[in-house]
Amino acid sequence: MAEVVLQNVMKTYGNLYAVNDVSLTVNDGEFVALVGPSGCGKTTTLNLIAGLLPMSGGDISIGNRVVNDLDPKDRDIAMVFQNYALYPNKTVYRNLAFPLQMRKLPKEEINRKVQDAAKLLDITHLLERKPRELSGGQQQRVALGRALVRDPAVFLMDEPLSNLDAKLRVQMRSEIKRFHHNLNATVVYVTHDQLEAVTMADKMAVMSGGLLQQYDTPANVFANPVNTFVASFVGSPAMSLIPLEAAGNALRSPEGWELPLSQLNARKAANSSTNKIVLGARHSTLKLHKAAVPGAVPGKIYTVEPTGDVTFAQVFINGAVVNISLDPTARIEPDETVWIEFDQERMHLFDAETTMALKAI
Ligand SMILES: Nc1ncnc2c1ncn2[C@@H]1O[C@H](COP(=O)(O)OP(=O)(O)O)[C@@H](O)[C@H]1O
Ligand SMILES: [Mg+2]
Repeated sequence: MAEVVLQNVMKTYGNLYAVNDVSLTVNDGEFVALVGPSGCGKTTTLNLIAGLLPMSGGDISIGNRVVNDLDPKDRDIAMVFQNYALYPNKTVYRNLAFPLQMRKLPKEEINRKVQDAAKLLDITHLLERKPRELSGGQQQRVALGRALVRDPAVFLMDEPLSNLDAKLRVQMRSEIKRFHHNLNATVVYVTHDQLEAVTMADKMAVMSGGLLQQYDTPANVFANPVNTFVASFVGSPAMSLIPLEAAGNALRSPEGWELPLSQLNARKAANSSTNKIVLGARHSTLKLHKAAVPGAVPGKIYTVEPTGDVTFAQVFINGAVVNISLDPTARIEPDETVWIEFDQERMHLFDAETTMALKAI
């Protein structure tokens, strides 16, 4: 296994910066998710690591070796794609064995590697079947197996679960996680699904518009998003963002109310480049009151969505839609006026001008 280092990696198409100055290190044995909305540059980044595209600038090394000018086959990587790309006319066994036959390995060694991979992925009983005789999940496991038998330094996976139905996706999510755990493999995993990234990865690289926005553990990204993009992208339902104005030790709404700030939050607000502030809050940190209480701000219920364990409500506060989670026994109705209490310790303050999280220095 090996570490992967990207330094100032660029990929341009005309004047489009598909990947814009991305630097990050994937440590040996780490599972890193490249995550972001469609078109943000995830696949391009992965293909640059794989060597399937020429770079416009920067350096990539795999296991202490600069691979900028190496062909994909010489980079010691294996790829798993969304469309499994299995050979339809070959049995599962032959699909797994084929990359090894190409490398002219001895027959016994090929057989041992195929059997080991099949065992690890629990597909031994499928070895004599053709891909069309397999379910989507089984096909995806064969695709993983085909990467596995090559024993690469790094696994590169591009949305490998996107073609599966919701239930199977959740199941394969834990299987890929287990696969990584068992092998201690270095994995770079592309997904547009923040939940996949949060649940599977050791670290997540959040991208937007070709730029790396934040690179950290899911827990740190969730707790301390660096800007409003990351804040609203990671977490479900999304963090609510309310545009307000700093006014001394409070945030002021054009609707006429003020939200007093703790000392620490007031210091953050004072560091804003203008007095325009975006207040961020996750659904689970908010409290709903049926009557005015000190420090709570008024809002109007828009929708109420029971999900069984928890009920989500959307509340209009100062023109912004705010998500809040409630006990399923809560009795509230659309258009009801309610008061929302914020948790000073767990609220986020952003500079509306720069979109960056405000610091208390
Ligand atoms: N061959 C290409 N020619 C021109 N633009 C491209 C090409 N490939 C990708 N792009 C553009 O680069 C950006 C990033 O694409 P991609 O890496 O595929 O995004 P993602 O995988 O995050 O959805 C997009 O704007 C896409 O349209
Ligand atoms: Mg893609």
